[in-house]
Amino acid sequence: MSRYLALVPAAGSGSRFGAPSPKQYLQLNNRPLMWHTLQVLCQVEAISEVVVVISPCDEWFDDFDWDLPKLNVQRVGGASRAESVRNGLQAMAAAENDWVLVHDAARCCLSVAAVERLITSLAEDTVGGLLALPVPDTVKRADGDGRISATVPRQGLWLAQTPQMFRAGLLAQALASAGEIEMTDEASAIEQLGQKPRLVEGDAQNFKVTYPRDLALARAILAARKD
Ligand code: CTP
Ligand code: MG
Repeated sequence: MSRYLALVPAAGSGSRFGAPSPKQYLQLNNRPLMWHTLQVLCQVEAISEVVVVISPCDEWFDDFDWDLPKLNVQRVGGASRAESVRNGLQAMAAAENDWVLVHDAARCCLSVAAVERLITSLAEDTVGGLLALPVPDTVKRADGDGRISATVPRQGLWLAQTPQMFRAGLLAQALASAGEIEMTDEASAIEQLGQKPRLVEGDAQNFKVTYPRDLALARAILAARKD
């Protein structure tokens, strides 16, 4: 039986957010932001282990009470998200056929239902896939001067989210051969192998906290869920 393992890169510095500590440690409804992320993944019954990758120089993790039995901390974060994922995958000793769900620590409003939909949709899939959102708005291309140079048909356009779920063997191969070319998600590494990951519809609440203005929305979503 192949297992389902979550891998959460959490070794970033949050430079765009600009807080004194990395954004994953900011207080959000009485918990560090990424506690909410980890808690949702731990709640998914099919997932047997949640591996969180933090920086070897992390000064914050040990200050909090995480209280999540499936959690496994690996202090092997790298200089880029891709490197953190690569190092985490090596550290977690997954079997070739285990499914790995890579999920950004900063997407703290993920829902259990969305993860279960991803797992169910990909159960028989030979490649794997990711949560993503069909682009809802009209898309414009800008020229160098902040003016519209074209309207891009949005048909067939999706915004990639996480979790991105692939078999450990295929993912390791993809990340190794993607080499130094900077990739922003796991799916693009799989695409470079000539494979076509499946798009599974996610939801708009699963956004990535990036700027200070994003915190109020995350706070409201989590508070509404608790009620
Ligand atoms: N991440 C990581 N290792 C890095 C960089 C990022 O594990 N070297 C993680 C972040 O902690 C985050 C996820 O990858 O959970 C998505 O990255 P992003 O939102 O870009 O976070 P940061 O890189 O921390 O933010 P910024 O780009 O604004 O500095
Ligand atoms: Mg970043």
